[in-house]
Amino acid sequence: MPEPVKKTDPSAPVIGVFDSGVGGLSVLRAIREQLPAQSLIYFADQAHVPYGPRSLEEVRAFSEEITRFLLEQGARLVVVACNTASAAALHSLRSKFPRIPFVGMEPAVKPAAEGTQTGVVGVLATPATFQGALYASVVERFANGVVILQDTCPGLVQEIEAGRMTGEHTRAILEKALHPMLAQGVDTIVMGCTHYPFVIPRIEEIIQNYPGNRRVRVIDPAPAIARQTGRMLLAHGLNAEEHPGAAVRYITSGQPEAFKQLLPGLMGSGGEVEKAFWRGGRLHLAEE
Ligand code: DGL
Repeated sequence: MPEPVKKTDPSAPVIGVFDSGVGGLSVLRAIREQLPAQSLIYFADQAHVPYGPRSLEEVRAFSEEITRFLLEQGARLVVVACNTASAAALHSLRSKFPRIPFVGMEPAVKPAAEGTQTGVVGVLATPATFQGALYASVVERFANGVVILQDTCPGLVQEIEAGRMTGEHTRAILEKALHPMLAQGVDTIVMGCTHYPFVIPRIEEIIQNYPGNRRVRVIDPAPAIARQTGRMLLAHGLNAEEHPGAAVRYITSGQPEAFKQLLPGLMGSGGEVEKAFWRGGRLHLAEE
């Protein structure tokens, strides 16, 4: 088999980051802040978003091919910036690509259970994440008698993908999820889907407007994932020295123009977006 063509400077270690869509940008943003010298490739599988209602097997197949594709593009460490893909595939990715360091995500039940005063914690995540063995094991190991309330926020990923963070429908979905949790005394809410940190301002408004003036901690795991990425880079000798050319490459299997329009709002800066196609279960970069 011929060596894959590396599109990036091989002297600059590259972090590959992927999600079903724009959600993983909440993680990319934190990586960018903490590790500004690293070159990054972000892949959004918008041809298949949302992942949440799909079977774990299907999401696993997508994740394996996306990983192969990111490695072909020069990635040397892969961040699975998607709770659903982590639930479906992290285990198999680590065994299929044994030389590649992976950083995955699991809902932050541990810090939530450790910090709660009321003993009631809310988790917002996709149906596939709640079905996975990873979530069951996190709850079993860390819930420690804490009551965990779950909601899948149906339709929220699609609203965020469309850039409707402040829309009426977004608010209605969040109120439906949060009001019953608040009524049951929740004091900690975990963002168990990487899309959801983009609506934290809406979540905070709903909490403030709820009777009783509660203090609720909202946990976004992105900064912790970025720290873990930094530790993994060091451990594998992949961290870049100060590298003025450090850049982000964005690739989507959906519509590059639509993705590009969302970038300034979600990342704080814009960028060019490349297109990739799925064909026969394989990902191909569009011809220049
Ligand atoms: N952002 C993803 C997650 O963290 C997936 C959302 C979806 O595609 O349903 O779970």
